[in-house]
Amino acid sequence: MTNFVPTPSVPAPDIVRCAYLELVVTDLAKSRAFYVDLLGLHVTEEDENAIYLRSFEEFIHHNLVLRKGPVAAAAAFAYRVKSPAEVDAAEAYYKELGCRTERRKDGFTKGVGDSVRVEDPLGFPYEFFYDVEHVERLTQRYDLYSAGELVRLDHFNQVTPDVPRGRKYLEDLGFRVSEDIKDSDGVTYAAWMHRKQTVHDTALTGGNGPRLHHIAFSTHEKHNIIQICDKMGALRISDRIERGPGRHGVSNAFYLYILDPDGHRVEIYTQDYYTGDPDNPTVTWDVHDNQRRDWWGNPVVPSWYTEASLVLDLDGNPQPVIERTDASEMAVTVGADGFSYTRKEEDGSAGEKTGFKLGAQV
Ligand SMILES: [Fe+2]
Repeated sequence: MTNFVPTPSVPAPDIVRCAYLELVVTDLAKSRAFYVDLLGLHVTEEDENAIYLRSFEEFIHHNLVLRKGPVAAAAAFAYRVKSPAEVDAAEAYYKELGCRTERRKDGFTKGVGDSVRVEDPLGFPYEFFYDVEHVERLTQRYDLYSAGELVRLDHFNQVTPDVPRGRKYLEDLGFRVSEDIKDSDGVTYAAWMHRKQTVHDTALTGGNGPRLHHIAFSTHEKHNIIQICDKMGALRISDRIERGPGRHGVSNAFYLYILDPDGHRVEIYTQDYYTGDPDNPTVTWDVHDNQRRDWWGNPVVPSWYTEASLVLDLDGNPQPVIERTDASEMAVTVGADGFSYTRKEEDGSAGEKTGFKLGAQV
């Protein structure tokens, strides 16, 4: 039975959105080639130890920090809060939960001021800040706009062994669930959680964790994503395309997953939907529905379920990875197990596993 995280008596901090990820990379030059030369993220600032990058429409100092280090990992998932007082609220909230916290009035990275970092109840390094340096928003700098331009940071995705536990903790923190994946036995395989008015700021994927599954940036249109694929082909790095391009069932977004030189996964994502009303309905997908993760029914590659990045504690050491004991999504849907469907028959039973009944439908 799930050991739920208690609900603190003090108010949760008022979170605006996911704001930046700090990623430890082992070769800064190789990572720069990937994130700047290939993906076109914009360098706000850089030195011999770190590169501060932002997306095209961003006005805060950075959305991604690449920091050189010995072990590839995620060092912080940073959220912007609504006011300076909300940083105090975050610190009080996690202290009541008994979590380790560290407050730095001058921030943990360049460009960001007063911040608190915590080791959260799921083992993830979360950061909360308000004070941040503003930089040029490049929105109408079409002279700098590339064919595969990444325009906004969209979301994080975190791997955790116990999704209901993580979901309840994040709901207490003020996140709302836009979509989830379950089975008829009540096992939850994944949940998409938002603060801003999109499908998510972060998602929980069931698996061995705590680990970073991916960071996702938005493009304006689908064709921007196709361009990234074409460019990777031209550069003879198509082996770094892990999955897609395709259309998600969950979120309805058009997507692509690619791997950076350390194996950190990046999603390129566009065209999900508005979720801002208070009664925005939660969409629940059956784990056996072949279209939940790819609307066209293309299979998910096994590495997408098994591979993820380590996360660091506040001392910079990798958090131990705890095995998921609930059923694995890969095991129930990948391979010739026969438990997935594309259509349900009128009586509710799963239809043929794949394909058209050609004789009846053409
Ligand atoms: Fe994603």
